[in-house]
Amino acid sequence: MNYYKNISQLVFDLGGTGVVAKKLNLRPSTVSNWKKNNKIPSSYFDKINFLSMELIKNSSNPNLSSEFIFSNSKIYKVLMILCGGVACYKSLELIREFKKNNVELNIILTESAQKFINPILVTSLNGKKCYSELFSSEDEENMNHIKLARDNDLVLVAPATANLIGKLANGLADDLASNVLLATNNNIVLAPSMNPFMWLNTATQSNIKTLKERGIEFIEPESGEMACGEEGVGRLPEVKNIFEHVIKKLSNSSFNLDGINEVKNYKCKNLKVIVTAGPTEEDIDPIRFVSNKSSGKQGYAIAEAFRDEGANVILITGPTNIKKPNVNKIIEVKTAKEMLDNSLSNLPADIFISAAAVADWKLIPLTANRNYKNKTIKLKKTNFKDDEILFKAKSNPDILKTIAVNKKRPRLVIGFAAETENLIENAKSKLQEKKIDIILANKINNNNRVFGSDYNVISFVEKNKLENYDKKTKQEIAQILIKKIIKKLM
Ligand SMILES: Cc1cc2nc3c(=O)[nH]c(=O)nc-3n(C[C@H](O)[C@H](O)[C@H](O)COP(=O)(O)O)c2cc1C
Repeated sequence: MNYYKNISQLVFDLGGTGVVAKKLNLRPSTVSNWKKNNKIPSSYFDKINFLSMELIKNSSNPNLSSEFIFSNSKIYKVLMILCGGVACYKSLELIREFKKNNVELNIILTESAQKFINPILVTSLNGKKCYSELFSSEDEENMNHIKLARDNDLVLVAPATANLIGKLANGLADDLASNVLLATNNNIVLAPSMNPFMWLNTATQSNIKTLKERGIEFIEPESGEMACGEEGVGRLPEVKNIFEHVIKKLSNSSFNLDGINEVKNYKCKNLKVIVTAGPTEEDIDPIRFVSNKSSGKQGYAIAEAFRDEGANVILITGPTNIKKPNVNKIIEVKTAKEMLDNSLSNLPADIFISAAAVADWKLIPLTANRNYKNKTIKLKKTNFKDDEILFKAKSNPDILKTIAVNKKRPRLVIGFAAETENLIENAKSKLQEKKIDIILANKINNNNRVFGSDYNVISFVEKNKLENYDKKTKQEIAQILIKKIIKKLM
């Protein structure tokens, strides 16, 4: 089944729009749009792969194979070690499975493994040299035994012999495979295969226990008839099961559908994030303007935090006196209108965060002489009757709402609400009225001066959720927000 070309079928096979949306914490309309456009954003490929792995197990649908559905989502690097056991021939199929799914392989054959399979066969399957010798002047030119140990996301030993398990448990390093296993700082997964008596031998079991206690993972052998004719536990698990186990382990290490802690390594590489920050200024005349006390610190902290996560960050900032962060693009604006125009012209984006304190109004003098209208001439007291100057406050455009209801609405639209009273009620109605996803609400009083400060006291207000935080630095608040966003996008 070529799912690339048939997203509706993919969604159907994964359980339908509702199931996919729920599992990925998305709106059903987002998944419906994928179907309508026959396209899924590449930032979701990993999650779809992960989801398909989850569902394959419980599905009787023959269309769902063990293959990655989106094989170009991430190139994983696996170091595969083949030991000298009969099941070596099954590992050839495993190599093909990895290759088919774009997993980059380096392969080590132990000396014994070469008695079972020819290195030339492995080289031709993998399309590159396989390694065996520890003392190779050619390979060791660049410390190959250490390089191989490090340059991968995971080390898989399949089949793992009783001999290799014993050596690893006891810290022996007398060949390339055992050296690399001691030198690696990545996850090790062992798929043992051996005669049932070898498997049950106390020495083998004791070595396995030792290794498990050290965090090394085992894909348990299956029971059945062995190549030697005996029956019992010791068969190498099905290639499909080993493949799935490894992929799940790899994708789990970069994200997890449920936990927030596991997502800390998830990089927002594919996300385009627009952050607005600072105040805006509305000229009254060439000298005076309407603005507010916003320093830009919170918005800049958010922009920086996203940059650190690898996102493509566009910062649209009003006039500030603080150092500009090093993000992909900075657009300096003055008025609310300029901020809005630049926000719109930079869509589409994945996330829009309005941390700017946009001046709600501009002031238009009611009784000024006509020359004032072009704002190039200074207002003078003498222009007004009885020393009284009356202004009309004209509302500025509502940037948040305009973005939130735009055809190119980002997946998440997030705003701030600074209030002096009824903080949560006001934030909730702002959330609803502006049709946005999260409001970071802060109460302005003597305990929380916010403007210009390095600290803030924030409540995160969502449709059915309220989370209050104690005083935090603006950087800490940015981190909390990022975690929330990542979790929401999964
Ligand atoms: C025909 C034959 C089949 C073998 N099959 C296995 C096996 O399935 N599992 C195992 O642990 N050892 C098996 N062995 C023993 C290993 O090849 C032997 O312990 C060797 O030293 C393992 O080396 P290695 O761990 O460096 O690959 C077999 C030996 C022979 C001669």
